[in-house]
Amino acid sequence: MSFAGAVKSFGAVRALRGVDLRISRGETVALLGRNGAGKSTTISLLLGLTEPDEGRVELFGGPPFASVRAGRVGAMLQEGRAVPRVTVRELVTFVAGRYPAPMPVARALELAGIADLAGRRVDRLSGGQTQRVRFAVALAGNPALIVLDEPTAALDVEARHAFWASMRSYARLGHTVLFSTHHLEEADAYADRILVIDGGQIVADGTGEQLKRAVGGSLVALDLAGRGAEGLELLPGVRSVEVRGDRARLRTDDPDATVIALAGLGAIRGLEVAPASLDEAFLALTAREGRAA
Ligand SMILES: Nc1ncnc2c1ncn2[C@@H]1O[C@H](COP(=O)(O)OP(=O)(O)O)[C@@H](O)[C@H]1O
Ligand SMILES: [Mg+2]
Repeated sequence: MSFAGAVKSFGAVRALRGVDLRISRGETVALLGRNGAGKSTTISLLLGLTEPDEGRVELFGGPPFASVRAGRVGAMLQEGRAVPRVTVRELVTFVAGRYPAPMPVARALELAGIADLAGRRVDRLSGGQTQRVRFAVALAGNPALIVLDEPTAALDVEARHAFWASMRSYARLGHTVLFSTHHLEEADAYADRILVIDGGQIVADGTGEQLKRAVGGSLVALDLAGRGAEGLELLPGVRSVEVRGDRARLRTDDPDATVIALAGLGAIRGLEVAPASLDEAFLALTAREGRAA
């Protein structure tokens, strides 16, 4: 699926300011951004629920609505619908019946991890169980792509793990998954690739490791062993130096060059080199231009 220069405004609010992206079959992609970044708008365009003001959105090489109608895309949107008073199996069976080539209901329940809830009433489930039922509903049409808009936003840690385990078992079959989240750890743990969206633009695209390296740099820490910290900020790659007690922490864009230069200064003690966290990378990426009005 692809976006080319997609722009979308709501009145004076420019929700998307020219989004370009391409997702290939089999990828599990996280759309990571704060509230208001443009995640749900991106997903609405992808599903053909709204049209871009400018640019193009294609799904499986055609207009989104065609793929959605054919059951090639399953979605879990952010706003929940009213919950019917039927059993889990009845609900999934009903939804499956509306698609041309649905997944066997038992299979959808199994993939969503709710086979044991099949006979339970949908309106009497916990938040985590409800989200997995919604996941089974999204799977019912046997889609090749599933789109999940902040599926775990309201769930506790345990329910989140159960949810992502279900998502993984589906993704492992070779299907494509796009999910949005504002939890860094979720993007890092469950996606092959992270798209960072901010102010209606994609500001980064890569694996968690790549984002950490590209933006956050690395941390090099060492014991000062009585020597002062003067001049450390001049070493190659170093962006900033922080001294705590007898220990210096250098943030660097080029840890190899920094360490080699340090070695040139004499004995190094207590050396530690670590990638910056995804948190730091995310903050650096999204602080750059301020946010959309
Ligand atoms: N239907 C709408 N009417 C007016 N403004 C909207 C509408 N939908 C989204 N927006 C605005 O567009 C921006 C992006 O929203 P959204 O895509 O929902 O962000 P996210 O899902 O990342 O939280 C926000 O500023 C939001 O207030
Ligand atoms: Mg949203």
